Amino acid sequence: MSATDPAARAAELRTLLHHHAHRYYVLDDPEIPDAEYDRLFAELQALEEAHPSLRTPDSPTQRVLGRVLDGLAPVGHAVPMLSIRTETDTTAAGAEAFDARVRRELGLADDAPPVAYNAELKFDGLAINLRYEGGVLVQAATRGDGETGEDVTHNVRGIGQVPLRLFGDAPPVLEVRGEIYMRRDDFERLNARQRDQGARTFVNPRNTAAGAIRQLDSRGMANKKLSFFAYGLGEVRGWAAQPSTHSATLDAIAAFGVPVCADRAVVQGATGLVEFHRRMGDKRDALPFDIDGVVYKVDDLALQQRLGFVTREPRWAVAHKYPAQEQITLLRDIEVQVGRTGKLTPVAKLEPVFVGGTTVSNATLHNLFELRRKGVRIGDTVIVRRAGDVIPEVVGRVPGPRAAYVPNFRMPRECPVCGSRVVREQGGIDHRCSGGLFCAAQRKQALLHFAGRRAMDIEGLGDKLVDQLVDGGLIRTLPELYALGLAKLAALDRMAGKSAANLVAALEKSKRTTLARFLYALGIRHVGEATAKDLAKHFGAIDRVMDASVEQLLQVDDVGPVVAQSIRTFFEQPHHREVVEQLRAAGVHWDEHEGSTAANTPQPLAGKTLVLTGTLPTLTRDEAKALIEAAGGKVAGSVSKKTHAVIAGEEAGSKLDKARELGVTVLDEDGLHALLSSHPATERAE
Ligand code: IVH
Repeated sequence: MSATDPAARAAELRTLLHHHAHRYYVLDDPEIPDAEYDRLFAELQALEEAHPSLRTPDSPTQRVLGRVLDGLAPVGHAVPMLSIRTETDTTAAGAEAFDARVRRELGLADDAPPVAYNAELKFDGLAINLRYEGGVLVQAATRGDGETGEDVTHNVRGIGQVPLRLFGDAPPVLEVRGEIYMRRDDFERLNARQRDQGARTFVNPRNTAAGAIRQLDSRGMANKKLSFFAYGLGEVRGWAAQPSTHSATLDAIAAFGVPVCADRAVVQGATGLVEFHRRMGDKRDALPFDIDGVVYKVDDLALQQRLGFVTREPRWAVAHKYPAQEQITLLRDIEVQVGRTGKLTPVAKLEPVFVGGTTVSNATLHNLFELRRKGVRIGDTVIVRRAGDVIPEVVGRVPGPRAAYVPNFRMPRECPVCGSRVVREQGGIDHRCSGGLFCAAQRKQALLHFAGRRAMDIEGLGDKLVDQLVDGGLIRTLPELYALGLAKLAALDRMAGKSAANLVAALEKSKRTTLARFLYALGIRHVGEATAKDLAKHFGAIDRVMDASVEQLLQVDDVGPVVAQSIRTFFEQPHHREVVEQLRAAGVHWDEHEGSTAANTPQPLAGKTLVLTGTLPTLTRDEAKALIEAAGGKVAGSVSKKTHAVIAGEEAGSKLDKARELGVTVLDEDGLHALLSSHPATERAE
């Protein structure tokens, strides 16, 4: 029942909104639709407007940005914010050296048991101290020089992931320390928007996050979505149940509702550290955010105390790096590539350089406008960034005089591939080949996109083969792909009988797909993977997408006027509808309504939340997650009483302990398979 007294109702609304904000921002698992959240929010706003005295500093309405300051006020840190020693040797030796030092300093004999460490990620953002008094966020400050930071509360309040109030029995004073960062997708989105508007792009997520947090005018945060992970504590007062290990401290922080990264583990000795460094290194590209290394911390707080500090660095922690994601190198030349939609992209030809774990010799310069703004010319020393799956890019030039005059780069007037006229569009930012599918480059790119892993997933259909198929005149439209027989394929260069047969099998296999993949594979401008998923979910059937009006398309999450118009224009062309029909006629199929709100596929895990921990014998974490989600379940990053089951593999960390503590079911991979194939009716008595 909802309270009628305004003060009581306001308190009730605050509690509700805190709960739902945590579900949404931290657990990524909302329980109510956004519209319902907005309704509760509006109700609280109205109450506070009518009764200003009801406005509390922890009210969710206080996240609203708009404060402008004259300067950032200094904040003295009650407990200094230290930095950690960095081990730049990116090989196993880096971890071994740290363990050896810890053992020596603790005076451990060679045959003493291994030291337990908490291994975590080193997030690439900026350090922040969040001060909670009585469970309410009262101040957020940067690290500054470690003794004195800057008050950035006005901006930090705008970060949805930072709780304004802690859950549970929070101590009277609790300072949570962690990193504010920007996810790669949020960074890419921000820059794509900037590029579309011909505005200045940002160099990397870290600088963007740091810049946003230190702005005086908090309205500057509006278009910058930032995230937060806690990794430790500052001042603490009156915490009776304070844990005795760092790993348990992080669990407790998570239980207060503060985001803590799930990629952490308690490991034993140097071998454990090396294994963690390797495992996270393998995973680095697939993470949604940048890391520049991992951090090892002696887990036992009593041991930490024994180890103490040297100058400003604790002896119990070290950062162990990975290869840098930004490097400088020589720009040898600029070439022009023609993309799937005919867009001409200037591509930097670089002196090969090792960056973000691979050797890069090409990097995008995006468009002429950006290239000019960055002032890049052939022969310059440039900064190259490569992070995760994102295409490497030139982010700028290293300032300095040029030895000789180099003319400014110009876009060609004719398409370098098909010779068609190049047109300038979108406020003069993009250049485009007007050749359409007459242009072999566009045809090739369309095919490669269609065959991509995240689209139709046709294994073995790579650039070389596509070049041959298009240049040899074997394929002009997408559906013709499925008409390629074994004989035609086997006749191609370097196509042994076996690989031709494999490709035929891969083509066959690709025919069974999902509506989201199919929509994405069509290569509609502005329809990325996320939008394709949203469209599939919203409409459930291809015909409904093809016939949707702009107004109907605008109803879909995250679809704005530009995207809606692009989808409409695409399906207005009879030629594109034909492609869809021909592909279906060739046997491409999917379950209509799959993944849509009206799903009727078996959903044995509907409404259940599972937690994954450790390494499973055969499934990667992404695979396990996909299976669980396909069965209607959710995967959360932390264990609570509501967790249906924890799926634990080898080297399972603190989540396993937590599950045992709370009496949550723990299963191995076989147990997960059993769950997935169970029938919902046997699980739920209806
Ligand atoms: S612990 C006393 N843990 O790296 C230990 N720091 O010099 C204090 N950082 O700028 C830091 N991820 O903001 C710690 N998991 C992590 C971290 C981390 C990133 C940053 C931190 C600071 C620098 C450490």
